[in-house]
Amino acid sequence: MKLRLDILRRKNADSEPYLQSIMFETDNENATVAFALTNICSGENVTDVEGKPVSPIVWEHSCLQKKCGACAMVIGSRPRLACDARLAEFAAEGFVRIEPLKKFPVVADLMVDRSAVFDALKTLGVWANGEVGAPDRTDETAYEASRCLQCGCCLEVCPNFYAGGDFFGMAAAVPASRLIDQLDPEQRKELSAGYRKKVYNGCGKSLACRDICPAHIDIEKLMSASNSAAVWSRLHALFGRKNRGVKK
Ligand code: SF4
Ligand code: SF4
Ligand code: FES
Repeated sequence: MKLRLDILRRKNADSEPYLQSIMFETDNENATVAFALTNICSGENVTDVEGKPVSPIVWEHSCLQKKCGACAMVIGSRPRLACDARLAEFAAEGFVRIEPLKKFPVVADLMVDRSAVFDALKTLGVWANGEVGAPDRTDETAYEASRCLQCGCCLEVCPNFYAGGDFFGMAAAVPASRLIDQLDPEQRKELSAGYRKKVYNGCGKSLACRDICPAHIDIEKLMSASNSAAVWSRLHALFGRKNRGVKK
């Protein structure tokens, strides 16, 4: 298989982006974009289609098994994990365009700074500050939420998210939903308030995020459970059953 990789590169955050096209050839039918990037970076005297030398491409990766979320990037116009994007999918076109995620500041080449995601988790209090013990119970909702990779693919397609903004998006809401589900109403008061302010109020409910998630997390189900526990139950307590749904 022979494929042209059109990679949007940038030396550092302050430099201008440029497109570099590299022909990549492999006998491996299951080769992924991550496989190609690894081979290009470890190859000697690699040149692009114009014969110019290819400097090592900066990109993040760790597990190479769709488990860490580090290799998220835009591949063929969709945010995806590089270790989950098979080159064979693009063989008919003969090329694939590879770009960094656009919602985060670029560090270099395909590597972005996703601290906004981790800052959002800290702000919501999803990351424990003190001693951590095993949860009293684990159920389906908590398990589903715990599968989030914090890859940021859902944020890339979300019309309401931008890094550093007031709306945190699903990369924070999904992990938060695990705690919202597990804590009792008194314990989750602060988290619920943060969820209402930073997630519920800004979410347009279009569910574009649900269809793009590489972990295939049931975002709709988690959102519905969190809305019920952190929003509707509070409205019910405040206004009673008759006025449920009144927006105040
Ligand atoms: S919800 Fe899915 S797309 Fe969003 S950060 Fe978690 S794993 Fe990635
Ligand atoms: S439902 Fe729409 S607005 Fe809400 S997080 Fe998903 S993509 Fe963003
Ligand atoms: S390298 Fe871990 S998900 Fe791709």
